[in-house]
Amino acid sequence: MKVKIDSERCQGHGRCYDLAPDLFGADDEGYGLVTGDGTVPEDHERVTELAASNCPERAIEILRE
Ligand code: F3S
Repeated sequence: MKVKIDSERCQGHGRCYDLAPDLFGADDEGYGLVTGDGTVPEDHERVTELAASNCPERAIEILRE
């Protein structure tokens, strides 16, 4: 599983990095960023889905291989 954030949609609500700080961070203005290359370790798949479903802008995209 991979994850990415659509920067055009992200409004900086911050739920992604609150819920899954291992996978998401914030830029200087609080917009979400994916840390690393977006590869989600197996034991982080559920929290990634939780973050995606909690983003009010639906900016988090999950890519399943
Ligand atoms: Fe942005 Fe959604 Fe996270 S709006 S900061 S991707 S919760």
